[in-house]
Amino acid sequence: MPALVLLGAQWGDEGKGKATDLLGGSVDYVVRYQGGNNAGHTVVVGDQKYALHLLPSGILSPGCTPVIGNGVVVDPAVLLSELSGLNERGVDTSKLLLSGNAHLITSYHTTLDKVTERFLGKRKIGTTGRGIGPTYADKINRVGIRVQDLYDESILTQKVEAALDVKNQLLTKLYNRRAIEAQQVVEELLGYADQIKGYVADTTLILNKALDDDKVVLFEGGQGTLLDIDHGTYPFVTSSNPTAGGACTGAGVGPTKINRVIGILKAYTTRVGAGPFPTELFDKDGEALRTIGGERGVTTGRDRRCGWFDAVIARYATRVNGLTDFFLTKLDVLTGWEQIPVCVAYEIDGKRVEELPYSQTDFHHAKPVYEMLPGWSEDITKAKTFADLPKNAQAYVKALEEMSGAPISAIGVGPGRDETIEINSFLS
Ligand code: GDP
Ligand code: IMO
Ligand code: MG
Repeated sequence: MPALVLLGAQWGDEGKGKATDLLGGSVDYVVRYQGGNNAGHTVVVGDQKYALHLLPSGILSPGCTPVIGNGVVVDPAVLLSELSGLNERGVDTSKLLLSGNAHLITSYHTTLDKVTERFLGKRKIGTTGRGIGPTYADKINRVGIRVQDLYDESILTQKVEAALDVKNQLLTKLYNRRAIEAQQVVEELLGYADQIKGYVADTTLILNKALDDDKVVLFEGGQGTLLDIDHGTYPFVTSSNPTAGGACTGAGVGPTKINRVIGILKAYTTRVGAGPFPTELFDKDGEALRTIGGERGVTTGRDRRCGWFDAVIARYATRVNGLTDFFLTKLDVLTGWEQIPVCVAYEIDGKRVEELPYSQTDFHHAKPVYEMLPGWSEDITKAKTFADLPKNAQAYVKALEEMSGAPISAIGVGPGRDETIEINSFLS
């Protein structure tokens, strides 16, 4: 079972970090394939808590080689500070590999991200302000700066000048800001070059060789299916492809190599930033999910919007990712509700709709159709097997599985590595 993709099935923050870390001890490589330090993955190992943004969660497993693929956008300052933070805590990061083709987030990308959001006013996306959108825009516009450019000063200078040409017009004439000096940016970037050089590699070649040698490679998604630039709730999305296909383009591995695609699925739903969210709660239940689930952003510290489980979204994630399994997380958070509503379909303009509508207008009008499932009050955080769960929790999981279209192969009952019920092995 050499290649697995692990990705978010909802709007991010499903618990991908924990799931990746759990498998980290059994895999040879963990690869981030898209996104950047907009991600916030919390991993709890024993009494230690780690917040990772750019680095793959496999970095915490000693036998595993962490890889930042070509599809990731890399803020070099963040990379270095995350690495030194881990080193200070005794984590060996020396095996990290960084694609020379990954694009760099520079100071002008973060500036533009923030300025653009301010300019959008109440139409803003609610981005993380980490420069993600502007960096991917430059990549697509073919004026991006790549990691490998750090090692050719003349090319780097030309590229930064070209990139700033139009941006400075925008900044000064439209946004009323000061122009950014190309030379200053070049100097800043060159300052990172030597510190990063040891990690830079032809990661596509290394990963394909590893797969040929039957090594186990795990591709770890950032964000989630509904934040995908193509398949998400556009324009309220991120600027990359967290969906399964993104693993192929973002790591340079063909789809025939991928054996298993695991969707990380929270037992309820959360979202950060703007955009439609049919099951969002504005009452004491929403507040309770936020408090009990600790639903506060790891990256921006924003409160996450909370709502009930949405099976329409889960089915959609199964479809657009070709999911083979789900990892259901945070089931423990639902303990204590007498009845738990689950959204089984939408009502849109008086009609019942079972599948996610492709039309943005329809999705904005979607009202959840709920089915009530009986809750449980027993503490489930010590459960080790499915049979240890109270009958109603078992029935909740089974109902979600039925509605979502792929087997639930693991269940999270707490944030720790060992607070997991494994039903089917991901690695067999
Ligand atoms: P990611 O971005 O998908 O990696 O998810 P985040 O780390 O942003 O958010 C998930 C949060 O839930 C983190 O604080 C995890 O430690 C925590 N978590 C993960 N799985 C579980 C679980 O099964 N139960 C509980 N109570 N917490 C969990
Ligand atoms: P992880 O990997 C949740 C959201 C932002 C915003 C939108 C666009 O921890 O699941 P961006 O900065 O990417 O241009 O912002 O995407 N967003 C996330 N929401 N989890 C994330 O990552 C996210 N990364 C970006 O809140 O709505
Ligand atoms: Mg997160």
